[in-house]
Amino acid sequence: MKAVVITEPGGPEVLAYQDVPVPEPADGEVLLEVAATAVNRADLLQRAGNYAPPPGASETLGLECSGRIAALGAGVTGWQVGDEVCALLTGGGYAEQVAVPAAQLMHVPSGVDLVTAAALPEVSCTVWSMVFDRAPAADLAPGEAFLVHGGSSGIGTMAIQLAYARGARVFTTAGSAAKLQACRDFGADVAINYRESDFADVIRAETNGAGVDVILDTIGARYLEGNVASLATGGRMVVIGMQGGAVGQLNLGALMTRRASIYAATLRARPLEQKALIVAGTEASVWPLIEAGQVRPVVHEVLPMAEAAEAHRIIEDSSHIGKVLLSAR
Ligand SMILES: NC(=O)c1ccc[n+]([C@@H]2O[C@H](COP(=O)([O-])OP(=O)(O)OC[C@H]3O[C@@H](n4cnc5c(N)ncnc54)[C@H](OP(=O)(O)O)[C@@H]3O)[C@@H](O)[C@H]2O)c1
Repeated sequence: MKAVVITEPGGPEVLAYQDVPVPEPADGEVLLEVAATAVNRADLLQRAGNYAPPPGASETLGLECSGRIAALGAGVTGWQVGDEVCALLTGGGYAEQVAVPAAQLMHVPSGVDLVTAAALPEVSCTVWSMVFDRAPAADLAPGEAFLVHGGSSGIGTMAIQLAYARGARVFTTAGSAAKLQACRDFGADVAINYRESDFADVIRAETNGAGVDVILDTIGARYLEGNVASLATGGRMVVIGMQGGAVGQLNLGALMTRRASIYAATLRARPLEQKALIVAGTEASVWPLIEAGQVRPVVHEVLPMAEAAEAHRIIEDSSHIGKVLLSAR
């Protein structure tokens, strides 16, 4: 089979589409014939040599995919060869075939085509498990105010739609007029141009000083002070990205007076048992909203897998809204 290979750590040009061995499904795994995978920002870090896969994971890029089951490993029940699925992966999605634990498979929501389904697993599972699941996740409630940074990103487009569907008041940040408008179209009540305004000032004014109940942060250190200042009493902040650095100064006094909490987590490194719960919870909570047309996968572009380098350039330039997919055939 063919797969996208990192020939050496570096820029998009180090990606090559080459022949590699077909993976063997282990006990409890299935072999998928990949229809499409999606590019995640973490893939860019891994390509550059700055994000090693967890121990035991495939060295091949790709944290999610859609496809058909081609073979069942020992002990797999509830799935058949030929079933159309999408899957949360720990790696290996940029390939014609991938082995994945059956516990990380999800049905394709009705009304979503197989290639488009590759846009769903990573953003749905991340946003559901960090924002909507119970504590230590943020457990966003109807009527609460919610802020997500980078509203036009893969994560942002899903977070805005799910928070809107939950009945939250949605705040977001983005860096251009077109992206701000897209965020409003997805359901954001207040879209802030982070290049022109201090988001914390806008939130203070828009909430009459009360702040927001939940923040989904992908920026890290650069926004730590503004995020904490924007939290309401009882506020919960979940940090899932560090695009603005990992090390900042935390004003514990500001956190204490608000009785607020900060939780930080990744999805990829979690044990299989936790991923299985997240996948099941996401399918139970998010898929009905997709099937009812309240939430939709947002696809910026679909490129052939052989053009993975170009897909990485699109994400690096941040010229996309939603997800960039790579189709296997
Ligand atoms: N912890 C986890 O398990 C997990 C899982 C998935 C993703 N993530 C993280 O979540 C983040 C988003 O992932 P993605 O794949 O959705 O990324 P993406 O589509 O590449 O989007 C990145 C976004 O960040 C925005 N951004 C950059 N600088 C900003 C700033 N100063 N203020 C506000 N927004 C800013 C960009 O907005 P503009 O284009 O408008 O500048 C863009 O929308 C990444 O950091 C990723 O690593 C974490």
